[in-house]
Amino acid sequence: MITKISTGIAGLDHMTYGGFVKGTNNLIVGKPGTGKSTIATQFLFEGLKNNEGAVYISLEEKKEKFMENMEQFGFRLREYEQKNIFRYVEVKPKEILVNIEEGIPTIENSVREVNAQRVVLDSITAFLLIFETEKQQRDLTKQLFDRIDRWNTTTVFISEIEEEDAKFGVDYLADSIIRLDLKLDTERKRGRVRTIEVFKMRGTNHRHTIVPFEINSEGVEVHPEAMIF
Ligand SMILES: Nc1ncnc2c1ncn2[C@@H]1O[C@H](COP(=O)(O)OP(=O)(O)O)[C@@H](O)[C@H]1O
Ligand SMILES: [Mg+2]
Repeated sequence: MITKISTGIAGLDHMTYGGFVKGTNNLIVGKPGTGKSTIATQFLFEGLKNNEGAVYISLEEKKEKFMENMEQFGFRLREYEQKNIFRYVEVKPKEILVNIEEGIPTIENSVREVNAQRVVLDSITAFLLIFETEKQQRDLTKQLFDRIDRWNTTTVFISEIEEEDAKFGVDYLADSIIRLDLKLDTERKRGRVRTIEVFKMRGTNHRHTIVPFEINSEGVEVHPEAMIF
């Protein structure tokens, strides 16, 4: 039997009939500025509110800047850091590589310390960029996913690129794919509209429509019944 866990976004839970499947690897794909980090953090914050441990692994953004940005949405991460159930771990892509099969101490110590149920890796793209060949990319990504599977966490991988990921095997390895975009409303000339789509979700039914969402002072709000234009 599968268990679903809330994403922290009511409209996204609606589209996925209850959220992410517990214990799976989920991919959020979109260009810069489409809302990936915000959605991922809202997912972690939902767990934190229920005293579930959470870890944000960052290969890109510095902690201070990230914490400040997220506080604007009311995601009080420092509070949970002090309660020892949240950790923000900054790692260099090469640190992950040292010995994936034996474990990744810098990250795994935090995962253990907070007894993490939810984890975000931001981004898998930064990890892929350190390799020279597609074979390396494919092999090491598989190793990384295998290692993370052993944590038994529900994990969100952030990806900045769309088409390229497929050939590195990321799309294939992920149990679900959520695609974000900023689509140009050419007809009504309202500028760009944020859109979200559940592209795939293994082992469960989900909605297939592309729907609008907004980012406001409370974070992300998805409108599952609305039309994009
Ligand atoms: N306080 C805020 N209120 C509303 N929208 C915001 C706020 N802060 C950031 N944004 C919007 O969110 C976008 C960044 O979202 P983010 O999750 O960081 O995207 P990504 O991780 O995909 O690059 C910004 O480009 C901006 O449009
Ligand atoms: Mg981001």
